[in-house]
Amino acid sequence: MGDWTSGYVADLDYTHDFFNELAPTMMAMAAVSRGQRHGLNKKSLSYCELGCGQGFTANVLAASNPHIDFHAMDFNPAHIAGAIELAEEAQLDNVHFYERSFADFDQETALPEQFDVIALHGVMSWVSRENQQLIIDFIGRRLKAGGMLYVSFNSLSAWATAMPLRRILVDRAAQGTGPLENRIDEALDFARQLEQAGAKFFRDNPSASARLESAASMSRNYLAHELFNADWTPFHFADMAADLSQAKVSFLGSSNIMEHLDDLSLTPQQIAVLDAQSDPVQRESLRDVLINEQFRTDLFVKGAQKLTERGAIGAWFQTPLNLMTRYNGGQVKQNWRLGEIALDHAEYGPILEALSSGPATGA
Ligand SMILES: C[S@@+](CC[C@H](N)C(=O)[O-])C[C@H]1O[C@@H](n2cnc3c(N)ncnc32)[C@H](O)[C@@H]1O
Repeated sequence: MGDWTSGYVADLDYTHDFFNELAPTMMAMAAVSRGQRHGLNKKSLSYCELGCGQGFTANVLAASNPHIDFHAMDFNPAHIAGAIELAEEAQLDNVHFYERSFADFDQETALPEQFDVIALHGVMSWVSRENQQLIIDFIGRRLKAGGMLYVSFNSLSAWATAMPLRRILVDRAAQGTGPLENRIDEALDFARQLEQAGAKFFRDNPSASARLESAASMSRNYLAHELFNADWTPFHFADMAADLSQAKVSFLGSSNIMEHLDDLSLTPQQIAVLDAQSDPVQRESLRDVLINEQFRTDLFVKGAQKLTERGAIGAWFQTPLNLMTRYNGGQVKQNWRLGEIALDHAEYGPILEALSSGPATGA
């Protein structure tokens, strides 16, 4: 058997994290917030996660959504072995893990023909062009009409200045011998030497120095997967949207509903620049430049269906809401890109009080 990794890091396992962007309820809420219909209220759904890493998110989502059948894959056997063990310990029968690569997952006979949801978090920017294409082809064949795609990726806006730094680190680590962890440390030391020697690249790009400094305190398992793969591609949003259009999906909106409210992130002058752009894809690319976006977490849909105004109200009424932190009364503040915003207590207080006794729908 040849090298199965295609240049992807396999010497160090990835971290165990839960990403709530992958929760179907969050996707449904984002769709409603964007005035779009979604089929995520059905009694049974099929959900596929590509490149699921340790499978922690898939396991937690399976435990909390017994009506959804989850199928999650990754080519790293250590990741899948751990994910299966956790599913068995939790006695979950609605999650299935596959030790497969993007090249052969389609041949898996136990898969449903098509899925209501396909999700991939932290994958597209970290695999080769060939693997990106295999993923797009899979989505094209396996996402149902009306189905939802979640995809996250590094955005070029914020990462452009870091590209030479990342290249220095990867090349240096490749020249070393011994465990990857030690080679990462040595590569970081080498980049610091360059910086201290007054390399003009760092002087002209202070954000690269800031990245180098913050990298030093990150877990080596995270850094290995974030920066030390053979492939690492930050995308212009427009290019990602064009690639995904091959799979017949179109942009729905950010999975983060805070991003749906421009006045929480942009000044009136910036909003005026955006509003002058009518093409929704170009608008997103411009927005990335305005906020210097680093990592996008986007939803796409295969066959967008806009809600009528009446339908949108109905959809909000059906949307389940739950507090994520305890509400102890008093003023509520929201922190976002433009800083702290005080929410009007007369408007928000009664809703938060109602939700303090448990989850409820908008109605
Ligand atoms: C940065 S990690 C993200 C993992 C997970 N989605 C998360 O966010 O925790 C990327 C994952 O893609 C997997 N991967 C990379 N290339 C792959 C391939 N060709 N086929 C299947 N999985 C792959 C890696 O093993 C790794 O677990």
